[in-house]
Amino acid sequence: MRTIEWKDGVVYTIDQTVLPKKEVWIELKTCEQVAQALKEMKIRGAPLIGVAAAFGLALSAYHSKVLKREDFMHELETAAETMRNTRPTAVNLFWAVDRILKKTRETRGGVESLKEAVVAEALRMADEDVEVNRRIGKHGSKIINDGDVILTHCNAGSLATVEYGTALAVVRAAWEEGKRIKVFADETRPFLQGARLTVFELMRDNIPVTLITDNMAGYVMSKGLVNKVIVGADRIVRDAVINKIGTYSVAVLAHENNIPFYVAAPTSTFNFIQSARDVVIEERNPEEVTRIGTETIAPEGVKVMNPAFDITPMRYVTAIISEEGIITGRELKKRLKG
Ligand code: MRU
Repeated sequence: MRTIEWKDGVVYTIDQTVLPKKEVWIELKTCEQVAQALKEMKIRGAPLIGVAAAFGLALSAYHSKVLKREDFMHELETAAETMRNTRPTAVNLFWAVDRILKKTRETRGGVESLKEAVVAEALRMADEDVEVNRRIGKHGSKIINDGDVILTHCNAGSLATVEYGTALAVVRAAWEEGKRIKVFADETRPFLQGARLTVFELMRDNIPVTLITDNMAGYVMSKGLVNKVIVGADRIVRDAVINKIGTYSVAVLAHENNIPFYVAAPTSTFNFIQSARDVVIEERNPEEVTRIGTETIAPEGVKVMNPAFDITPMRYVTAIISEEGIITGRELKKRLKG
């Protein structure tokens, strides 16, 4: 399922906040509208956030009315800043914005050539994302055996990418190869990406899935009901994987229960110059915690903490699956030292 499209200066995307109840496609015509959709998590998931940011810049470029190259560059830099100020953790966003700016600087000619270059680069990034995810799936399916039961956290599926997913790319590829696998999906409080989105897309593909609340993961592991964990990532740095809040707990539980813990992510999610201490963890609206849907579940005025991501030290990561292949945590450490 393709989650984002560009047609004649309009971005069409699925509103992920109303899934699975309704499948609503929204139209975004300005860079500011893309920024708002990102902040409200109508668009979410690291790779999709990156591509959406690229399309945000494409909208700014496409609708630009300026005539001089330097004015165009100034407008684009402003749009880039708007994008950068949406969500701070998924590195794909910054990667995508930098890639568009670099392409524009390298493009010769006047404003029309620049406009074309920005739109073409954004479209290329969307197509590349699909291709990269397919490759992640192909590499990752090698570690999946017939009969495996995989636990996943959050949504690292089609909905978090342009198409096919990252952690769920591995699941999908194995399923398409005929392996009879099953998935446990953590609900992923507070935003419920697991319950709402992962379950939705796996059921649509007829891949067997069982929904559990986050605090049941330890129980299902201790009962031997799961033999692999695969999650996505918002950022992979030298010493850690940053992913949806709750991932760290899952990794520690997997370690305790001798269950391999895999991270599937494109190389656009890697930043080996950084370490965990360089990463800004997004703090979101307390209402995500005090409410379920529109229902308030906590006393009025309660103090709330709502970090959207956590940090899993690399020692808990069995291997990382990217479009370039599979690398173990130990190999990665060695390579980064060298
Ligand atoms: O806050 P979200 O829903 O954007 O967070 C998404 C995640 O944490 C995913 O696990 C991650 O982006 C990997 S998606 C392929």
